[in-house]
Amino acid sequence: MAGKFKRILYGGDYNPNQWGREIWSEDMRIFRDARINSATVNVFSWAKLQPSENEYNFSELDDIIDMLSKEGYDIVLATSTGALPAWMFKKYPEVARTDYQGRHHKFGHRHNACPNSLVFQKYASALVDQLAARYASNPHVVCWHISNEYGGECYCENCEKAFRVWLKNKYKSIEALNKAWNLEFWGHTVYEWDEIVLPNALGDGMDTEQNTAFAGLSVDYRRFNSDGMLGNFKMERDVIRRYNKDALITTNLMGTYKGLDYFKWAKELDIVSWDNYPGYNTPWSYTAMCHDLMRGLKDEPFMLMEQTPSQQNWQPYNSLKRPGQMRAQSYQTVAHGADTIQFFQLRRSVGGCEKFHGAVIAHVGTENTRVFREVKQLGEELEQLSPLLPGAANSANVGIIFDWDNYWAFEYTSGPNVDLLYVDQIHQYYKYFYDRNIAVNMIPVDADFSRYKVIVAPVLYMVKPGMKEALEAFVANGGVLITTYMSGIVGETDNVYLGGYPGPLRALAGIWAEEIDALAPEQTNTVRFTDGTTAKCRIVCDLIHTEGAESLASYASDFYEGMPAVTRNAYGSGITYYLATDMDETGIAKVLDCAMEDGNVTAVIAEPTQLEITKRTTEAATYYFVMNFRDEAAPLPASLGGKLDLLTGKQTEAGELMNKFDVKIIQE
Ligand code: GLA
Ligand code: ZN
Repeated sequence: MAGKFKRILYGGDYNPNQWGREIWSEDMRIFRDARINSATVNVFSWAKLQPSENEYNFSELDDIIDMLSKEGYDIVLATSTGALPAWMFKKYPEVARTDYQGRHHKFGHRHNACPNSLVFQKYASALVDQLAARYASNPHVVCWHISNEYGGECYCENCEKAFRVWLKNKYKSIEALNKAWNLEFWGHTVYEWDEIVLPNALGDGMDTEQNTAFAGLSVDYRRFNSDGMLGNFKMERDVIRRYNKDALITTNLMGTYKGLDYFKWAKELDIVSWDNYPGYNTPWSYTAMCHDLMRGLKDEPFMLMEQTPSQQNWQPYNSLKRPGQMRAQSYQTVAHGADTIQFFQLRRSVGGCEKFHGAVIAHVGTENTRVFREVKQLGEELEQLSPLLPGAANSANVGIIFDWDNYWAFEYTSGPNVDLLYVDQIHQYYKYFYDRNIAVNMIPVDADFSRYKVIVAPVLYMVKPGMKEALEAFVANGGVLITTYMSGIVGETDNVYLGGYPGPLRALAGIWAEEIDALAPEQTNTVRFTDGTTAKCRIVCDLIHTEGAESLASYASDFYEGMPAVTRNAYGSGITYYLATDMDETGIAKVLDCAMEDGNVTAVIAEPTQLEITKRTTEAATYYFVMNFRDEAAPLPASLGGKLDLLTGKQTEAGELMNKFDVKIIQE
């Protein structure tokens, strides 16, 4: 498949509007030196573009676009609707959001529009109409960036009314709604649609946003909020389309951000883009998982819309990226499917809360910095790689299910254990594959499972209609399924499947989980495998009975000592593994090793190695990305010796040592 851009975009958020004109030409000179070929502009300029209700002024943006066009930039043009102008709050206070505590906001911050405000919708579409009329046919505008990092919630009365309409469409009758949320509980039965209130701290939400008296209600609110913001996105997108039906339109996503159902969003985006801001202690496997998730949303190459060239400002501890780290992080991004590398930001701002956020040009204002030299080196390399990589595919035989409905419902549960966090749970299984260089696709619940040899469905708490049948068909046809504790518990409105856990997965797993014990942080149990090896386990322990499955391990202590802790069940031509408890890495590895053998899944290269290795392929070639993210040097595996390293132009040598942050892109 061909890439969606003609070259690897290299650049990022650029705000010349914050600077005098004398700086602009200096910027152009410095960026040229770094081989920067792209800029994302107009992200937060609404107040300047529209100084008052009846007045637009595009003269400065015209000049910026002109300058960048003359320099041959690929422009990513934002719509500026991520922050509202002050006059709008003054005249129409209802455009502001009401927060979880029920406080209606004033002018301030950004990402501040009530998604259901008709005033916001009217002025946002009018602004985008002006922008699109002006710039949609400019050939230098290669991509549209709508709003910015959609997120947050609104609990205003207007949203409440819209929620009732959304519910009425979904449930049709008030009886169906009462049943769906089991409102008999605590006598919450409602008789009229206008008795339904939004689940914030004033209603059925509790002290924090993680809690709720009715998960069914709160999950529906999250679906509604995600849909509402997606509606805002589509509204702007469709305005642009009217002026250019081929425009490439995106908005910058945020990895595992909880608030929005990104699989649903991705269907409306022409290309996925996202902002990668790992902290100083974020595991590289976690970042890799985020990339795989962002690629998985459309199962296509994506854009890295933002990363910092040096440091963030908004995390508690904003370490500098060490020499070589930004480059290695960028290649990890490309290795997992990115076709662009863009920074936030190109020039460090003089004031505001992001003045300590790293940039290509630092406050010193010159190119004589370590960070600039590293940006330039990467720019030169990407320019060389540009004709080869865009559009290259990542492929995998393993799919890990990630699902926002599950994310929400799972974290709303009151009990059995507060330490059950969705993304951490998924990550600990992902890490097994990362450590072994086994390629993984992060997939939605409605993926085509038949494309995979192995499906991993950790904590598949909510099993939605159709899933039972889809998973049974996958396994019956020879697939290997791995699932765990806290799976098959509820249906799509959060009511429990009666008749024994794991509900619809019971036949597939060949077990019945009678009870679920919760372990406090200071408590562990031990899992003993039939070969005598052991692993520690924590958080939850299912007390299970086999119903056809074979027990691979059992608990070593407590009153359920001897009961199965890991099972394997033959089902049709395939196999289901069930992990009844949250085991340490060795325990997980022990089970997944067996599953990989059953599924006949192999790593990207045969040799075990400490290096991270991925593969992207085009019709013409295969590219191996080899990176070292560990402190110790590691040898290049023999099978990758004697081949062309695109970054040096030289032949690799089997066994040559790669130091921390070294990268090779090996062509075959
Ligand atoms: C986000 C935003 C940017 C900027 C950066 C700072 O990703 O999209 O506008 O605030 O964070 O890290
Ligand atoms: Zn609202």
